[in-house]
Amino acid sequence: MSKTATICRITTPAIRSRKNGTPLVCLTAYSTPMARLMDDTVDLILVGDSLGMVLYGMESTLGVTLDMMIAHGRAVMRGSTRACVIVDMPFGTTQESPEAAFRNCARVMQETGCSGIKLEGGREMAETVHFLTQRGIPVMGHTGLRPQMVNTLGGYRSRGHGAHEANAILDDSVAIAEAGAFSIVLEGMVEDLAKDITARIDIPTIGIGASSVCDGQILVSEDMTGLFGQNVPKFVQVFGDVAGEAQRAIDAYADAVRRREFPAAKNVYKAKLAAPKSRLARIAG
Ligand code: KIV
Repeated sequence: MSKTATICRITTPAIRSRKNGTPLVCLTAYSTPMARLMDDTVDLILVGDSLGMVLYGMESTLGVTLDMMIAHGRAVMRGSTRACVIVDMPFGTTQESPEAAFRNCARVMQETGCSGIKLEGGREMAETVHFLTQRGIPVMGHTGLRPQMVNTLGGYRSRGHGAHEANAILDDSVAIAEAGAFSIVLEGMVEDLAKDITARIDIPTIGIGASSVCDGQILVSEDMTGLFGQNVPKFVQVFGDVAGEAQRAIDAYADAVRRREFPAAKNVYKAKLAAPKSRLARIAG
């Protein structure tokens, strides 16, 4: 019998069952090596459409396509065997109708092998979330600061400062939970609102800029590992110095090349084959 690698991932029902439990640890990843680094440690990996800004230098996430999400989703799946992998649906792929959303989400799930999708939206997306979850597509919601709405909302400011806005976001979150989502990202909102939502709905809330009252936390890995140095939003804690380390490596490499210290003898291929016999040796024997 041939040996196959056992893949036993954390499921979306297992994530859902963590409501009010030990906080869920979630991070974004867009590549195989980054997924490998975190697979044993985190509960959930999100292939976020933030990759448009983080990896591709876009101004917003609006230019991200389904093909980009599928390519990066596949890369993350190849680098993980344990964590629950969720792929973000980019702008324009879920808003038109539940049927169009289903086609796009099904394509993402079939072509990446991920465990579910995330979509941004509130009450206006509840019908779609219900349609998807009834047809085998686990959905993670996303309310509060919604980067795909940047042009309508006029920027990336934190949300829930007045009663009117806070109530609207609470209603949005309740609608998405009641429609069947297995968890919901709460992004960039005041702590009291995150607390109200977390108390009100029976699925885990995953906070990013929404305080520790949530059932779990998520950050963009490039922010929290220090790939962007210290230039990150207020809600991020930088836990490493990847940019500093990469810069040191680049500088050391340039220095070694200029001094002809790299490549060193150990980096050089030497011919292994015996040298061809000289013409005289061939004649002799
Ligand atoms: O796109 C993304 O990375 C996200 C997280 C910030 C939650 O939506």
